[in-house]
Amino acid sequence: MTDGSAPGFRTLGELESVAARAVPPSVWAYVQGGAGEERALASNREAFRRRTLRPRVLVDVERLELSTTLLGEPSAAPLFLCPTAYQGLLHPEGECATARAAAGAGLVGVFSTLSTRPLEEIATAAPSGRRWFQLYVQPEFPATAQLVDRAERSGYSAIVLTVDTPVFGIRDRQAEGGSVEASAARGNGPGLQPPPRGPVRSAQGFSVPRGGTLTWETVRQLRSVTRLPVVLKGVATEEDARRAAGLGVRGLVVSNHGGRQLDAARPTLESLPEVVRGAGPDVEVYLDGGVRRGADIVVALALGAKAVGIGRPVLWALAAGGAPGVANLLDLLTTELANVLALTGRRSVREIDGSMLD
Ligand code: FNR
Ligand code: LAC
Repeated sequence: MTDGSAPGFRTLGELESVAARAVPPSVWAYVQGGAGEERALASNREAFRRRTLRPRVLVDVERLELSTTLLGEPSAAPLFLCPTAYQGLLHPEGECATARAAAGAGLVGVFSTLSTRPLEEIATAAPSGRRWFQLYVQPEFPATAQLVDRAERSGYSAIVLTVDTPVFGIRDRQAEGGSVEASAARGNGPGLQPPPRGPVRSAQGFSVPRGGTLTWETVRQLRSVTRLPVVLKGVATEEDARRAAGLGVRGLVVSNHGGRQLDAARPTLESLPEVVRGAGPDVEVYLDGGVRRGADIVVALALGAKAVGIGRPVLWALAAGGAPGVANLLDLLTTELANVLALTGRRSVREIDGSMLD
């Protein structure tokens, strides 16, 4: 535990149900909701549920090694905390609490452009922690470059450009539950823009409002203004993975934004193998979306992911118990990962490979 007393949640289910009661219904709809009728949201989980593992037996598993590296930096486990906007809606300390828990667990925390706390304050909250900055490009490139510069100066060690948001997804549950985003603080500056709502209809037809210009040229521009490694978040195909690798991108997150963007998106687990193929040997591939169990982490690694990201459960843990709640969550996930390693006869996350899958 990084501070306070241990809340002692025993399962993710407990965290989720305590969180559901701790926040107003509109905030819960924001956290839990997905695009449309939430097919992508559900299918991310279903894809994991369909997978089973081939355990080896009679292996000495007295010592287990969970640690790995992400972009060359040490990580206590093949896990990171996904960027999620407006964490102050879940807990008054918001992203600062998340940063402390991530640092305490030795895991990378990724923080959103739309954090409720300024990125500098998040860095100061956990100076020893490793942090990556998630970038939403701004309508004017100088504003984007300025954010990147601030992240560099504050010791963030990678820029995660989210690319699955040329426009916002249409989210029925949030539309019905009422928007909470307008009232949430934008810690990095009140003028910062989320991805555009749209497309909008005009006399000329449909078009995306300014700010929706997210193209391969954006990736080139970004590379030209930062010395930090660039990771693209939201890649789902071999073609895009290959193109990213050709542009010097160092990492790819196979993601469908937790089912919040394209409702008809494939589950991320099904996109993973082709993205790994397209990325080639020099680009690390991560996955997020529906990772809830130790076995999910193992399955994703067996299909070629270097690590997995955790989204909503971090928000549940924040709402249920602040930084100690998030520490509790990370402990549950890493303990379960160790348990699955032991039960499959693998002593180290490096021993996870395709032979574990049917
Ligand atoms: C997100 N996600 C997200 N992604 C991003 O790049 N920038 C952001 O600001 C946000 N904001 C955000 C808010 C909320 C409430 C959620 C649930 C998600 C997507 C997030 O990083 C990640 O891709 C998914 O959450 C992973 O899926 P699971 O673990 O939530 O199933
Ligand atoms: C979301 C945006 C902010 O998914 O990324 O809500």
